[in-house]
This record gives sequence, structure tokens and C-alpha cells, in this order.
Amino acid sequence: MATERTLSIIKPNAVAKDAIGAILSRFEAAGLKIVAARMLHLSREQASAFYAIHQGKPFFEELVGFMTSGPVMVQVLEGEDAVAKNRDIMGATNPANAAPGTIRADFADSFTENAAHGSDAPETAEVEIAFFFPEGVCPRTR
Ligand code: TYD
Repeated sequence: MATERTLSIIKPNAVAKDAIGAILSRFEAAGLKIVAARMLHLSREQASAFYAIHQGKPFFEELVGFMTSGPVMVQVLEGEDAVAKNRDIMGATNPANAAPGTIRADFADSFTENAAHGSDAPETAEVEIAFFFPEGVCPRTR
């Protein structure tokens, strides 16, 4: 299995409930290393560009409104099978379907306010990592 990188976002509702530490701990406990991180408050333009694929869908305005409602914590996770592993740890997109013990089961407030984002494929991860870390990500040496 290949070492991969994936883009993870702790969304505004999870930041607001002071769950950053708890969520990052789950990644580290699962063997995913944090190789880059930044906290920022997304602009409407940034949120719309990040979720451009969903433009025109009925939930788009609510999604952009939510993603710009407060700061987010964005990190790059690295490890074996990082894309799929992160999505397992997050649980299903709709928290009503998220398995017990997953981030979304524990920290989501609604379908839209579902606590975390994770890239859905290695190719998407590459684009999403460049979106938030255009300066590049240093290799993790220890
Ligand atoms: P999506 O890319 O389908 O899911 P994921 O985040 O698991 O890759 O959708 C992006 C976000 O949009 C999702 O995390 C929550 C929100 N969303 C809704 O609010 N309603 C919906 O019906 C869908 C499909 C998504």
C-alpha cells in the first residue's frame, strides 16, 4: 500500500466546539502524520472555489454560508492509504449514516455542519493540497 497525502479540514462547527485537539488526536492515533497545518477564516470566494464542483446544487449556498461562518483548521495528513483511512475515520458524509466512533458521528450538527472534510481520491487530494498550501509541503523527517 502506498504512502499518500490527503487534505483534511476541521470545519467551523467543530472548531467552535473546541474539538480540534480531539480530532487531530484521532488522525495521529490512526498513524496519519500531520505534515502541514493552518488555521484560516475562508472568504466567500475561497469557499465557493473549493466547492466549485457543487455550484448550482440545492445545498451550495448553505454550504458556503457554513464554511465561511467561522475559522477552519486545514491540515495535510500523510500515511499508508491516507485518503481512504481519513474518510474511514470521518465516517459517512451524512452524519445520520456515520458509524459510531467516527468524527462525523461524534461532532456533526447536521448534514451540512458535518465537522470535517477529507479528499475523496489521491488526484483530488493533490489539487486540494495545492489550493491551501500553494507554497508546497515539506517532507516530514521525524
Ligand atoms: P460531498 O463532496 O458530496 O461530500 P464529502 O464532504 O463527504 O466529500 O459534499 C460536500 C459537503 O456538502 C458535505 O461534506 C456536506 C455538504 N452537503 C450537504 O449539505 N447536503 C448534501 O445533500 C450533500 C450531498 C452535501
